[in-house]
Amino acid sequence: MTDHPIGRRAVVLGGVGLAGLTLGSSGAIVADELIPAADRTQLPATEDLMTDHGLLKRILLIYREGSRRLRTGDALDPNTIFHSAQIVHDYIESFHEGIEEGFIFPALVKANTLADTVRTLLVQHDRGRKITVAIIGATSAMAMNGMPAAPGLRTAAGRARVARWLDAFVTMYEPHEAREDTEVFPAFRRVTTDRQFALISEQVAEAQRRDYGDNAIAHFLAQIAGIEKQLGIHDLNAFTPPEPT
Ligand SMILES: [Fe+2]
Ligand SMILES: [Fe+2]
Repeated sequence: MTDHPIGRRAVVLGGVGLAGLTLGSSGAIVADELIPAADRTQLPATEDLMTDHGLLKRILLIYREGSRRLRTGDALDPNTIFHSAQIVHDYIESFHEGIEEGFIFPALVKANTLADTVRTLLVQHDRGRKITVAIIGATSAMAMNGMPAAPGLRTAAGRARVARWLDAFVTMYEPHEAREDTEVFPAFRRVTTDRQFALISEQVAEAQRRDYGDNAIAHFLAQIAGIEKQLGIHDLNAFTPPEPT
């Protein structure tokens, strides 16, 4: 399950991008030939990745509410967590992290920039994928192989264990994505020429269109918004605190 075909494609595509990076100026010339100026209207790759982080942040809020319900005994539809974890698995951990692993991190390593941070981020990608597989298995709505639906939530001990996984995922990914937004992506932009950056942005946009269609983010956001509504955490205004007294 961790070896998702989309993830493999993204990583392979990343290899192409890296070839361009390692070619230096000759790769940049190829980039110029490949991308007509009039077509360079897609979002910069780093902006795309930061949008993904916003989507992931909303899933972290869903996980937090799911964990709270599991700990307090409030009712929780396993599907809310199952479908959220599937988006993490099918998009964030496959495509988004495939782009990071195929384009962003190798460029930083090659430039001898943020090497320790990149090492940690890679470990966290791997740990996150394992936690996601565990969450999906525990909350699966499909009764299969003689297993009941949502097998991980049938006992108090099981629910506590899933709550720990959800908390661990949130605890890891909040600093993970904040570090990428504030340090990793700006550093990647600094070590990449304008032409290389334009080529990579085009490749990322094309891969996203090919694998997920034209409205990938809108589709995932609609799904997430539905889950937020089901959990009662959809009202942005409800997060506004009273004035301090
Ligand atoms: Fe990452
Ligand atoms: Fe990321």
